This record gives sequence, C-alpha cells and structure tokens, in this order.
Amino acid sequence: MALKWEKRCWIFFLLLLSSCLSVTGASEVEGRRRAERISGSAGDVLEDNPVGRLKVFVYDLPSKYNKKLVEKDPRCLTHMFAAEIFMHRFLISSPVRTLDPEEADWFYTPVYATCDLTPNGLPLPFKSPRMMRSAIQLISSKWPYWNRSEGADHFFVVPHDFGACFHYQEAKAIERGILPLLQRSTLVQTFGQMNHVCLKDGSITIPPYAPPQKMHAHLVPPETPRSIFVYFRGLFYDDNNDPQGGYYARGARASVWENFRNNPLFDISSEHPITYYEDMQRSIFCLCPLGWAPWSPRLVEAVVFGCIPVIIADEIVLPFSDAIPWEEIGVFVLEEDVAKLDQILTSIPIEVILRKQRLLANPSMKQAMLFPQPAQPGDAFHQILNGLARKLPHSDNVYLRDGERKKLNWTSGPAGDLKPW
Ligand SMILES: *[C@@H]1O[C@H](CO)[C@@H](O)[C@H](O)[C@H]1NC(C)=O
Ligand SMILES: *[C@@H]1O[C@H](CO)[C@@H](O)[C@H](O)[C@H]1NC(C)=O
Repeated sequence: MALKWEKRCWIFFLLLLSSCLSVTGASEVEGRRRAERISGSAGDVLEDNPVGRLKVFVYDLPSKYNKKLVEKDPRCLTHMFAAEIFMHRFLISSPVRTLDPEEADWFYTPVYATCDLTPNGLPLPFKSPRMMRSAIQLISSKWPYWNRSEGADHFFVVPHDFGACFHYQEAKAIERGILPLLQRSTLVQTFGQMNHVCLKDGSITIPPYAPPQKMHAHLVPPETPRSIFVYFRGLFYDDNNDPQGGYYARGARASVWENFRNNPLFDISSEHPITYYEDMQRSIFCLCPLGWAPWSPRLVEAVVFGCIPVIIADEIVLPFSDAIPWEEIGVFVLEEDVAKLDQILTSIPIEVILRKQRLLANPSMKQAMLFPQPAQPGDAFHQILNGLARKLPHSDNVYLRDGERKKLNWTSGPAGDLKPW
C-alpha cells in the first residue's frame, strides 16, 4: 500500500509517542498522588462522601417486582442494564438507608423493570410501564408518601435505552414520552441527550453496567506501550434492523468504516476479538460512536482502560456530567465530521493527549464508572447518591399543598399500559 508521506510520518511519530506514553502508564501505580487534579472544576466533587448528607427510604415490595425476576433469569445480573439490580442491593445495606420513612429525604422503589430478556438476551421493555404502574399503585395505597408529593421526592432507576420512555426504537420512545406516572420523579438513567423528550431536567445520567471483575481480570502491565492509534470493535451496519442503512447510528458508524477501513492509523473491525480489553489498553484513542442509542458500554471501557474516548454522538449527555469534566478527558467529534476523523485526531497536540491520559489515570475517574461488589468509596453508587444529595433540600413545590389538585393523570397513556400487571 502506498502510504502518503503524512501517514508514514505519523506511524513513526506513533512509535515515539507510545514510548512516552508507557512512562505515563507506569505512574498509574502512584495514580492517586500524581494524577492531575482538575482544580476549580467539578472533577473534585467525585470524592465527596454522601453519608450524612441524605437519607433514603427503600420501599419493601413483594419479590415479584425484583428478586424473583433475577432468580428466573440470572443473565439480568450481567447485562448492561444491571445497575437497577445492584443499586437496590447497595441501598439495602448502605448507611444512607433509613428505616423511618418520616425522616427520609428520598424514597426508592426497587422495581427491576428491564429484567425481561428474550432468549437471545435482549432486554425488552414492553412490560415495564405496567409493572411500574402496578408498583406505584401499591406504594401509594400502602404508604402516605407518594400522595404527599406525587413522586417528586421519589427516585427510580430506569437504565433502559431511552430511560422511562420504555421503547428501544427512538421514534417510538419519543412518541411514548416518559411514563406519565414518573413525570414528577427523579430518574436515574443511562440515556442522556440534550433537548430530548426522554431526558427531563433533574435526571441523573449514569454509566451503563460493565462487569468490574471481568475488566480487572484483563488488565495488562501499566508500562505496556500504546501502539494502536485509533481502536474500535463493533457493528458498522445493522442489516437486520436497518437493511437500507442510514438509520443505525444515524450513519456515523457506516461512515467510520467507509472512510477509514484501509487507513493504517485505524484498527477497526466488526469482529470482537478475545483480546478486546487488552487492545483498548494498547490504544491511544477509542471510538465511542452512537449505536441505536447515543450511549454504549465502550465509554466505561475506554475510561477504565485509559484509552481517550472519542465521542461521536451529537448532544449526548454523559454520565455524572455535573461531576466529571468530560470535555477535558475525551474528544468530541460531530456526527457530520466523521469523514475528517483522521485529520481531527492527528492534529491534537501531544501535550493535550498526555494531559487527557493523566486525567484518565486518576483512579476516581475510573471508580465513578463502575458498580463494584461490594461497593467502594467514589464508585457509581456513591456518585448517584452525591447527585441526589446535591438536589437537597427539596424546594417547596415538591410537596402538594392541602386541597391542591393532583398533577399526575393515572388514566393517560396507551391503553396497553393501563392493563394490570
Ligand atoms: C392516595 O391517593 C389515592 C387517590 O389518588 C387514594 O386511592 C389512596 O388511598 C391514597 N393513599 C393513601 C395512603 O391515602
Ligand atoms: C387524563 O388523561 C385522559 C386520557 O388522555 C383524559 O381523557 C382525561 O381527561 C385526563 N384527566 C384529567 C383530569 O386531565
């Protein structure tokens, strides 16, 4: 292959760069001391301790809303929506839990609304609206707290593709909108995109679940050079669901493939190798393009493996974006600029690359992306609590005044959602 001069030059530069970068890698051992602090920016709040700043009451629901579902299908524990299960387990034994609802700041309803998998393991949210409705009916009749605020001091974990819009196709999700009964509650969800009907003000955006032990088992020595410039493994086209092309990833993944499949700086393929996690640790940039939804577990993997995430998903709202300085850590490329990806990435100055890598080496950044068992200080569970604590005290309009007309409409929504669960 006749490489352009520019590209040959780049490959040489990469070799130099990877030897520099391996020095950075070695310092990860001393990460906590040497990792760069982002003074004056929100990055500092990652180390906040939520204990003592909020009290959460966990409703005791019949196990058919939670534990029974996992017993029936244990795959729910490892798929990317498993945060709904682990958050429940975490709260049960967390010091922020109170058994006295009178002193609670927040109420949590443990419903595993996405633990309903097809034989292939795809979570389908079609029963979720009925299940949620049934759970809310139950808590609002057994306890007085729902009616007092119509859910405004309640939070729900809804990690599905488009959160509480409960559909995996964006157009359908938009048409449905957020489940009417959840419209006053705080939603803890993976989906985040600006100005989108499925993300309301005040929601907490979280990372998808990626298995921490499995990732840990694939760590390579920190001095391993980063000899791959750009890395990506995953679908470029979804022929089954989008045979004409253009809808899937709004064409962005197809464009990555069409423009860069023969570019020696790009290590991209639709084949998932067994060395996937190791390869990310040998890469400088990891592409995180949108798929059907704007987010994917690649972002978590990139951060944990110290590979600079290249985010291609216009207007995405990233996890804990009020606490993590994503602009400084990652690279954001507009969907319409995908064809220029090589120029964009090769023109980033080396000092900027090294700074992003130092920020990524900060253990608090990695910790915030993970849901470890047992929980650890600063992990994603703690960031969710920090997010809830930052919303306190509740404003006056959270509680309905005596005689005030109720705001939620129990009979709106598609007829199918109103059937009993
Ligand atoms: C809450 O309000 C509903 C009607 O909107 C009522 O049926 C229910 O009994 C109330 N719950 C409590 C605990 O009073
Ligand atoms: C609730 O929604 C239903 C269906 O959209 C509508 O017919 C009804 O009038 C609404 N009720 C109130 C009190 O707004």
